[in-house]
Amino acid sequence: MLQKICVFLFAGLLQTAACFGFGPKPETIEQSFAIIKPTAVREGHIGAIIEMIEKANLKINGLKMTKLSVIDAESFYAEHKGKPFFKELITMMTSGPIVAMVVEGQDAIARLRTLVGATDPNKAANDTIRKAFGKNITENAIHASDSAESAIREIPFFFNSREMFP
Ligand code: CMP
Repeated sequence: MLQKICVFLFAGLLQTAACFGFGPKPETIEQSFAIIKPTAVREGHIGAIIEMIEKANLKINGLKMTKLSVIDAESFYAEHKGKPFFKELITMMTSGPIVAMVVEGQDAIARLRTLVGATDPNKAANDTIRKAFGKNITENAIHASDSAESAIREIPFFFNSREMFP
């Protein structure tokens, strides 16, 4: 009997904790990674881009301004090495400060990609970040992880555990 009461009380405790946001997170809560690119930083769009992300009900739990060296940028974009746009991409990504972000939420990876829009801002849907702030296919305002595997690789490239607040 005492055992049953204990189990009942423990289950109630877990439910109460979940109501207040404690305890294990549902499976679909994901972390994604984004970079506000140098052109968008230079043109003063940091605040507007962050506002779009937060208004989409995605939470920023890591944020830093930094500048990529050529070695950093080539390593970050290693999968594109050899492609015709690689050199231009590295030149653009190292041309000034960037803002790196860890973005968290339900299905964050897919939802952030939708909010970011197509790679080419001219083809991006209305109400996307690239439609609003991208200039061309290289200076397309923002990068966002394209998969869970990419997010897992990209987040620690910029952030350690003490710099994230999930
Ligand atoms: P991003 O999402 O950061 O990933 C790779 C980047 O390469 C892309 O955004 C663009 O900035 C840049 N890029 C330039 N030309 C192309 C292209 N034809 N296809 C894909 N990416 C391109």
